[in-house]
Amino acid sequence: MKKILTSLLSLGLAASAALAADAPVNAVKVSDDLSAITADSALWSKAKFSTVTLYPQAAVQMNDKKANEANSGDKAKKAEVAALHNGKTLALMVKWADGTKSVQGGYSSDTYSDGFAVQFAGATKKAGPLPYIGMGSDGRPVVVHLQKATASVYEPNGNKDVSTQINRQQTGIFGDELKAYDAKVASLAKTDYERVFVAEGFRSLTEIKDGSVASVAGMTYNTNGWSGTLARPLNDSYMKATGTVPVAIAVWDGEKMGRNGLKNLSSWVAVNLEGMKVDSKIVAEATEEAKGNVEKGKAAVDANGCAGCHQITKSDAQSFMGPSLSNVGGYSTVAYLRESIVKPSAVVVPGYNRNAHSNTPWYTIEKGKRVSAMTDFSFLDKKTVDDIVAYLKTLKAEVE
Ligand code: HEC
Repeated sequence: MKKILTSLLSLGLAASAALAADAPVNAVKVSDDLSAITADSALWSKAKFSTVTLYPQAAVQMNDKKANEANSGDKAKKAEVAALHNGKTLALMVKWADGTKSVQGGYSSDTYSDGFAVQFAGATKKAGPLPYIGMGSDGRPVVVHLQKATASVYEPNGNKDVSTQINRQQTGIFGDELKAYDAKVASLAKTDYERVFVAEGFRSLTEIKDGSVASVAGMTYNTNGWSGTLARPLNDSYMKATGTVPVAIAVWDGEKMGRNGLKNLSSWVAVNLEGMKVDSKIVAEATEEAKGNVEKGKAAVDANGCAGCHQITKSDAQSFMGPSLSNVGGYSTVAYLRESIVKPSAVVVPGYNRNAHSNTPWYTIEKGKRVSAMTDFSFLDKKTVDDIVAYLKTLKAEVE
């Protein structure tokens, strides 16, 4: 079946099953305390797992040739996601395959760890569409919970700036100092790397360090993959849950030097809280299927010169005039794709044109607002936009 779908897509034909978004996850209601739940809790046996697809993030590439090459042939990953809630706390479990356990050590700077993140839509004054999947956007914040697999990380002041330089050869004269130093490192080392951020657009990622988010995350490795868990309040000053909580999930593979933007990312997934009223607007936005005609959309993309600024599929040459669209159909909602075409400045992906000058960004700043360098295609008729969106939804890597 998978083969048939793939070949249908390569012919550019609409295959509605392949265009469908991941189904909502059901959070099973329990009465137990969930605030410190870990992967080995027996409570998870009550939960139901749903499949969520995670696509290689293609929008903003890292300036690291080796890492980019290690990930160039990347495929989409499947994660199994389950949820529990008790009216106060939401607990999520994310399981994904990873054949190599990569853990961040304290000293080396060129090893990278496996990790995962869960993103929530932040509280806003007025209801609107879901925030941009990457980093939110103006007025549409996101809250990001990040957990990395760590051995021990020395952080003298919590700012990640290790200042002491040591020379391990000089044990003769400095042996005692070295011993004292190692003892200090051991006493200050942290074995957990768990962070919470808020962001309202790219380059606005801010860590919440005051402990005002009462969350607990963890990662457990078993022979062929990770189980990551997160528990957080349904309501706090950063998030206000209705009966449906939209989440997006990202995973990093340390073996492939994954970090920052080099990750696999899901689109928004609706988590319905059992016993509460389903928020049909959120479910509709997260699961909306493109209505247009894929073949006509492909023709419209050709006719409107999108390829002049974008790499459309992985087999096209890279274009640095705009972000690669090669996986955009995997991690974007239909509403976001529509908006990107007819209102390019609503969300600005802030890369730059590497072929021209490293400081030639994909936007200009006018009156303090980022304005996209992309042509405004609001002149296209609605049907053509629908067709383009349907084609864009087919742009995504195969599942590994
Ligand atoms: C003049 C260059 C240019 C053209 C032509 C152009 N784009 Fe863009 N596009 C950009 C730039 C630059 C960005 C990043 C800034 C932003 O987010 O608006 C972008 C962003 C996007 C995004 C958001 C990508 C993401 O990862 O979130 C989509 C989708 C998109 N363009 C689709 C299209 C389509 C479809 C066409 C043709 C109908 C098109 N673009 C034509 C320059 C262009």
